[in-house]
Amino acid sequence: MIDVQEAGLERHVTREGSSRWTVRAKREITYDVIVSRQLFSVGNPTLATMGDVPAALPGSRRFVVIDAAIDKLYGVEIRRYFQYHDVTPIYHVLEAHEVVKNWKSVETVINAMATAGIDRRREPVIGIGGGTLLDIVGFAASIYRRNTPYIRIPTTLIGIVDAGIGIKTGVNFGLGKNRIGTYAAPVVSYLDQSFLCTLDRRHVANGIAEILKMALIRSADLMSLLERHGKAVLNADLGRTDQTLTVETNKIITMAVQLMLKELQPNLWEANLERCVDYGHTFSPTIEMRALPELLHGEAVNIDMALSSVISFNRGLMSRLDLDRIFNVMRGFELPTWNSLLEKPKVLNEALTDTLRHRGGKQRIPLPVGIGEYTFINDLTEDELASSVAQLKVISNTSESESTGLRPWQKTQG
Ligand SMILES: NC(=O)c1ccc[n+]([C@@H]2O[C@H](COP(=O)([O-])OP(=O)(O)OC[C@H]3O[C@@H](n4cnc5c(N)ncnc54)[C@H](O)[C@@H]3O)[C@@H](O)[C@H]2O)c1
Repeated sequence: MIDVQEAGLERHVTREGSSRWTVRAKREITYDVIVSRQLFSVGNPTLATMGDVPAALPGSRRFVVIDAAIDKLYGVEIRRYFQYHDVTPIYHVLEAHEVVKNWKSVETVINAMATAGIDRRREPVIGIGGGTLLDIVGFAASIYRRNTPYIRIPTTLIGIVDAGIGIKTGVNFGLGKNRIGTYAAPVVSYLDQSFLCTLDRRHVANGIAEILKMALIRSADLMSLLERHGKAVLNADLGRTDQTLTVETNKIITMAVQLMLKELQPNLWEANLERCVDYGHTFSPTIEMRALPELLHGEAVNIDMALSSVISFNRGLMSRLDLDRIFNVMRGFELPTWNSLLEKPKVLNEALTDTLRHRGGKQRIPLPVGIGEYTFINDLTEDELASSVAQLKVISNTSESESTGLRPWQKTQG
C-alpha cells in the first residue's frame, strides 16, 4: 500500500507495518558542440565568452590540461590567448597517448586539481588534446567532487569526429580497453579543425577510420565523398594547401559529426546494447591492447571493420563490388586490414567472450549491409570466424591492382 506519495517519492507500508521508500528523479543533460576556427586567436571571443558556464570573465581562473604535444606546438598561442582575455589559467601539461592512458594519469590530473583548489561551481576544467587526453581529463573531472564541469577541445581527427563529442570518458585498466570510466557530458565541445594541420599523416588516417565506420554503416553518401576526395584530403594534409579540398574536408567532417551525434543522442547512457557505432569495436579492443603500442586506435578499429565486412560478404549481406570498394578505400587511406594477432584463436575467442560480457550476454555484432546500412548478428561461430580470418589474410596480402583479391579464395565460396 502506498502511504505517502510526493513528486518522486513514494512510501509503501506493508501489512506488517514495515516501510519501503521509492525515490525517482530524472536529470536532463544538455551540451553544445560548437565549430570554431582559430579558437586561440586573441580576436576569437568564443572560448572567453560563449557556451562556457560560467563565462570566463576577466579575473576568473581556469584549470587547463594540455596534451604535451599541443603545448609544444600551440602553448605560446594558448597562453597569449588567456592573458589577453585576462583569465588566470592554471596549466597542467600531460603526456597523453595510449600507453599512458591509465589510472595513474587520471590521478595526476586529480592531484593538480586538488592543489589548485578548483571551485567546481565557477571554474570549469578545460581539456585540450587528442582522444586520450580528453578521456583522461573527462574522467578526472567527472569524479572530482562528484562531477566538476569540463570543456573539451579536441585536437585530433578522432577527437573531433568521435572522442570529443559524446559523453563517455574512460581509461585502460590492465589489458581492459577503456575498462574504467564514466558517462559525463562536457559543458561544451569546441571543434577547431585548424589544430589538424600539425597532425601527422598516420594520425589523420587513424581518424579517417572512425569516419569510414560511420560511412559503412550509416551513409552511402559519406562513403562516396571519401572515395572521391578522401585520398586527396589525406595527401594534402587535410586541405591545408588547397581551398577546394578544405571545402571537401569540411563536408566530410561535418557529415561524420552529424551522423555520430544522431546515433549517440538517443542512447547516451548506452541502455540499448545494440549500437551500430560498435561496428569495428567487437574484436578491436582486445587486439589494440594486445598489440600496444603497434596499432593506433583507429587502425585496430579498421582491422575489425575489415574482418566484419568479410563476415558480412560471406553471409550474403553485401555484394562483391561493395567489399571491393571497402578494401580499396581502406588501402587508399593506408589503413591496416590485418594483424598477426588475428591468427591466434585464443585472442579472438577472448575478444568475443569479452564482447559478450560487455553486451549483456549476446554478441550483438553490428555488420554492414551493403554500404550505409547495418544489422546485428548473435550467432557467429568459431568456425565461421576462423574461415573469415583466413580469407581476410588473403585479401590483405593482395594488392589493389589485383582488385580486392577475392580471386585467390573465391573458390572456397562454394
Ligand atoms: N570517449 C569516447 O567516446 C572515445 C571515442 C573514440 C575514441 N576514444 C579514444 O580516443 C583515443 C584515441 O584518440 P586519438 O586518436 O586522438 O589519439 P591520442 O589522443 O593518443 O593522440 C595521438 C597523438 O597525437 C598527439 N597530438 C594530439 N593533437 C595533435 C595535433 N593537433 N598535432 C600534432 N600532434 C597531436 C598526441 O600527443 C598523441 O601523441 C583512444 O584511446 C580511444 O579509446 C574515445
